[in-house]
Amino acid sequence: MSKIISVANQKGGVAKTATCRYFADIAVAQEKKVLLIDFDPQASLTKGFGFNPELFEGVNDANICNVFNQETVNVINVGEEDETLHLIPSNRELGIIGQGNIIGKDLMLRKFIKKNKLLEVYDVIIIDNNPKFDTMTINTILASNIIVIPVVTAKDEQEGLHGFFKNTEETLSTFDHAIEKMVVIPSRYNKATKVSKEYLKIIKEDTLPFIEEMCPTISEAETMISEAVPEKVAFPDASSYNLSVYKYLTLYSSESSMKKDKREKLLTTLEEIVKNVIK
Ligand SMILES: Nc1ncnc2c1ncn2[C@@H]1O[C@H](COP(=O)(O)OP(=O)(O)OP(=O)(O)O)[C@@H](O)[C@H]1O
Ligand SMILES: [Mg+2]
Repeated sequence: MSKIISVANQKGGVAKTATCRYFADIAVAQEKKVLLIDFDPQASLTKGFGFNPELFEGVNDANICNVFNQETVNVINVGEEDETLHLIPSNRELGIIGQGNIIGKDLMLRKFIKKNKLLEVYDVIIIDNNPKFDTMTINTILASNIIVIPVVTAKDEQEGLHGFFKNTEETLSTFDHAIEKMVVIPSRYNKATKVSKEYLKIIKEDTLPFIEEMCPTISEAETMISEAVPEKVAFPDASSYNLSVYKYLTLYSSESSMKKDKREKLLTTLEEIVKNVIK
């Protein structure tokens, strides 16, 4: 069955966009046909492939805002010649149209995916979000059957995570939308620091009981905490090549400062995380 994955967290800088990138490349490596949708007006995912988002503003076939008027939106091939990885790019206009007064505006992305029969074309659709809980986030949640939440293993992140769960619960119950799976990915984990270890433990121990107690609709889905993704310079380094960390470490292994065993361990960790989400 096709998977529509919303990668979300109302906190900024938690690795949402980086997660979308390695998820996409690993899914492609597993012979899936993948669509990335940039649903963040900051357009970091779009910029990450080397595009200038301004190119997609205004009357443009690849303007993500066309989702809100249910026009066709063009996809861009960002993979190899076999066209197994496509992107719908974003631009700042999404932030403006998302605030507008449109009937049924929370369900526009879901309608768009259905109307364009995207699930007949792609095995996996991965959607990047902005660091808020707003109309755009609600759209991606109501369009998805899986929610992936990267969370930084640092002080005070837990409060924001609880806020995200409560907002998601309200969205799902208000719209009577069921998801299949919710996966929390502890990200940017630094085992050398006490605070990182402490917060990984808190995330592991507190998350599922919190959901069970406070979020009855989410509880109906499979919920899990994945293995932690370590803090590694390969992540920012990968972006200077416009690549995901997965592709960077696979293609440019000699240029990364990571030792072979550490590099292979990271690649295996990422593959395992993706495998558990997209079974
Ligand atoms: N595991 C990691 N180790 C080191 N750096 C990381 C890791 N994951 C992400 N980063 C870096 O952290 C920064 C923020 O990541 P990213 O842009 O993916 O976060 P985001 O949640 O999408 O941010 P925003 O909320 O602004 O959209 C980037 O510079 C990225 O390269
Ligand atoms: Mg981002």
